Amino acid sequence: MDHIEAAKQARLKAYVPYSKFKVGAAILLKDGTYVHGANIENASYPLSNCAERSALFSLISQGYDVKDIKQITIIADSEQPISPCGACRQVMHELLPKGTPIFLANLHGDVKETNPDELLPYAFDHFDEDTDA
Ligand code: THU
Repeated sequence: MDHIEAAKQARLKAYVPYSKFKVGAAILLKDGTYVHGANIENASYPLSNCAERSALFSLISQGYDVKDIKQITIIADSEQPISPCGACRQVMHELLPKGTPIFLANLHGDVKETNPDELLPYAFDHFDEDTDA
């Protein structure tokens, strides 16, 4: 399946009673498997989870290794290709292998390719430091 179509399928699973703004994310693994994520909101608004974080957390929860990630595609019904929030940029920067292609898309066929360093320059990464973690 095409990566845009996979992200569209993921988007249909969104739980968005508050914003009504559905977002889908599809992570493609090197073996061709797709892992889906959708945004899941809550009446206590800050507890809502974005699609790209849902996909990454699902991937790890299912026992996949982030080293096997080939690319991620995120899609929404936005005028421009969807722009990930700051929290998701931080999470993607930590969990996606360096240089992983990130495709930002919308339902009009616009697609922008980027990567973790471009989305979050000068990212916080405690693994750069000499810690015991
Ligand atoms: N949202 C995502 O899921 N991903 C993005 O990249 C941008 C924003 C969600 C959060 C919230 O459920 C809704 O979109 C409106 O902000």
